[in-house]
Amino acid sequence: MTNTLNCIGRSIPRVGAREKVTGTALFSADIELNAPLILKAFRSDRPHAEIVSIAVEKALAIEGVAAVFTARDVPGKNLTGIIVKDQPVLATDKVRCIGDPVALVAAETEAAAERALKAIEVVYRDLPAVFDPEKAMSEDTPRVHAKGNVMTTRAIRRGDPEEAFARCKSVIEKTYRTTFVEHNYIEPDAGAGFVDSDGTLVIYASTQNPHYDHKDVVTVLGLADEKVRIIQAATGGGFGSKLDLNVQGFIGLALYHLKRPVRYVYSREEAYLATAKRHPLVMRMKTGADENGRLLAMQATIICDTGAYASYGPAVANRAPVHATGPYEIETVDIVSYGVYTNNPFCGAMRGFGTPQIAFAHESQIDLHAEDLGLDPLAIRLLNAQRVGSTTATGQMLSASVGIGDCLSAIRPHYEGVRNLAAAAPPAPYKKRGVGIGAMWYGIGNTGVQNPSTARVEMSLDGAVTLFTGCADIGQGSSTVLSQIAAEVLGLEAQDIRLVAADTKYTTNAGATSASRQTYISGNAIKEAAEKLAEVLKTEAVNKLKVAKSALVFDGGGVAVCEKPDQRVAFADLARRAHSKGIALSWQGFFDPETVPLDPQTGQGVPYATYAFAAQLALVSVDVLTGEVAVEKIVAAHDVGKAVHPENVIGQICGGVAMGLGFALMEEFEPGKTVSMKDYHIPTCADMPEIVPIIVESPEPSGPFGAKGVGEPALIPTAPAVLNAIADALGTRIYALPANLERVLAASIAAGHFKLTI
Ligand code: MOS
Repeated sequence: MTNTLNCIGRSIPRVGAREKVTGTALFSADIELNAPLILKAFRSDRPHAEIVSIAVEKALAIEGVAAVFTARDVPGKNLTGIIVKDQPVLATDKVRCIGDPVALVAAETEAAAERALKAIEVVYRDLPAVFDPEKAMSEDTPRVHAKGNVMTTRAIRRGDPEEAFARCKSVIEKTYRTTFVEHNYIEPDAGAGFVDSDGTLVIYASTQNPHYDHKDVVTVLGLADEKVRIIQAATGGGFGSKLDLNVQGFIGLALYHLKRPVRYVYSREEAYLATAKRHPLVMRMKTGADENGRLLAMQATIICDTGAYASYGPAVANRAPVHATGPYEIETVDIVSYGVYTNNPFCGAMRGFGTPQIAFAHESQIDLHAEDLGLDPLAIRLLNAQRVGSTTATGQMLSASVGIGDCLSAIRPHYEGVRNLAAAAPPAPYKKRGVGIGAMWYGIGNTGVQNPSTARVEMSLDGAVTLFTGCADIGQGSSTVLSQIAAEVLGLEAQDIRLVAADTKYTTNAGATSASRQTYISGNAIKEAAEKLAEVLKTEAVNKLKVAKSALVFDGGGVAVCEKPDQRVAFADLARRAHSKGIALSWQGFFDPETVPLDPQTGQGVPYATYAFAAQLALVSVDVLTGEVAVEKIVAAHDVGKAVHPENVIGQICGGVAMGLGFALMEEFEPGKTVSMKDYHIPTCADMPEIVPIIVESPEPSGPFGAKGVGEPALIPTAPAVLNAIADALGTRIYALPANLERVLAASIAAGHFKLTI
């Protein structure tokens, strides 16, 4: 018997690639409907105002307008949100941010819908607004929600900071800031729906979790679960924002009242105006190290501006402090984090949930210690890196799969080369080169709460295997990876697995495509389901082949005696045998990572069952006269446990680096000003560096075939590495993201590289 893997670790053609490349994949805008009505929302242009009146008569009189709905038309509970129910589908008494939906139009044509929006008359009474999260925390400030502006707090405490800081030779205290960031998925939010013959509201949506959508939509409409069916349409990215109810509530509301097919496709402008942003964070960090560079203590205060609604703000406000130490051992911590309401755009999930922000802070701090103590940035990281047996800030002992040391070691061979390049003559006299490292750790799955996945694997009587999973592939490739896992267990090829995914009628809840959790959590649930089916097949094969079970192997759609492939029985035969005895051929799998909720006072507990680790190395050149930063090279080493599909991992790393560059250098959403991509910069291919992806595999014993995750980790170390490289180039540091032209030029001038003389 061999243990070699057949499917796992192979970069097979991606599930659904052909459909996407040939244009036959059905996105929400493509779903064929019979004479659909077009939906559009009337949105607030005020950041904070009471709604005095809404007049819709003129809009209704416009030819082609079928209906205009307001909050009064919401039949169920007009509050949505998966963590905190605080966001109405349509505003009731007041609006809390620019873009809040106030009314919903359904019309025969796009033009009629647009005209109706212009004819809706809303009278507001403006309220004082608050845009600064630190001001929002004080008592004498406008309240965004009646319960007050502090949405959530989290503390992590361990040891005695005063005592620990007293032992430190190097103490660094700095404040870091980040800004609002837009997701810019390639497909703006969209959905379509119709009422089925049995009265079920069928809603197709571009979504990261049809089961969450389902929960919110039935609540909003006050319907029984079976009266709403959510199907994930082909989805062009999400990066977190498509965890929120975007169009789904509007489509449900229109279907409920009109019983006619409807469609809602956001323009890019509407996606900018109406969907979640990345949380801006203020991070006050104080860290201390002894004379050898060993980190001994950290004190941090983190303020997360969640804007008008909670969305995934609690997840961000919990995850940032848990990850504040970075992938390092720090015995003593005193970290407090606040999620705060303001009248800014609401902030939610975005690739990393606060970790990209906090990594910028902890990676800047460790470089400052290195500088302070005259240590090498790579050496100080290796010295402090977590390892098997390390205890985290939440008191969790890391028992396996701690690949940060391996990631740092993996970039080492490239380190000297880029350092020599940076030390040599610059590409131009007005340019300076620099090298920086960014490291990270990332807990897989939700923080200290149950977040199970379920799946079903079924064999039909012809021996074909179908995988039923609620998991939404939003472009990251989970359908491929999960098929590989099922195929591996049953000795099939991934393309042999029929896939039914992300449809609330046919699949059970897999949890969200979020928190880099699907490979690990749904992968395990699928593996368990497939193993149960495998067991049944082997039992039947024992009966037929009259050999011990241990002598049997799966063999391309059948079960054979090990090393005697002529003694073989096909799946179809086994399926019929089991079926004739009434033995089930459909099996459920379940997996929920082992976590322990964090103590509310001390934050002690086990937030995640496993962590991904990464280290990236950046080489940049900075134009000291213009502030332009060219990232020349990124070496990206990522511990994914086991790369189920190596090319897909590399794809995630390269995409993550691109997103990280945007976060580092240019992306900034200015509320009330940024309208669309014309005034928001994201990296293009011209901005992309040479990327050297390195896959590190430190197997996770509880992972499917050792796998963890990579979706969010891919992005997290990039901005820290780039910012550290800029600091290395200029000899002065930038403490706020993005490090755009203005900030880099200011730093260049401050460092005396560019003397303004008249
Ligand atoms: Mo992502 S922030 O886990 O959807």
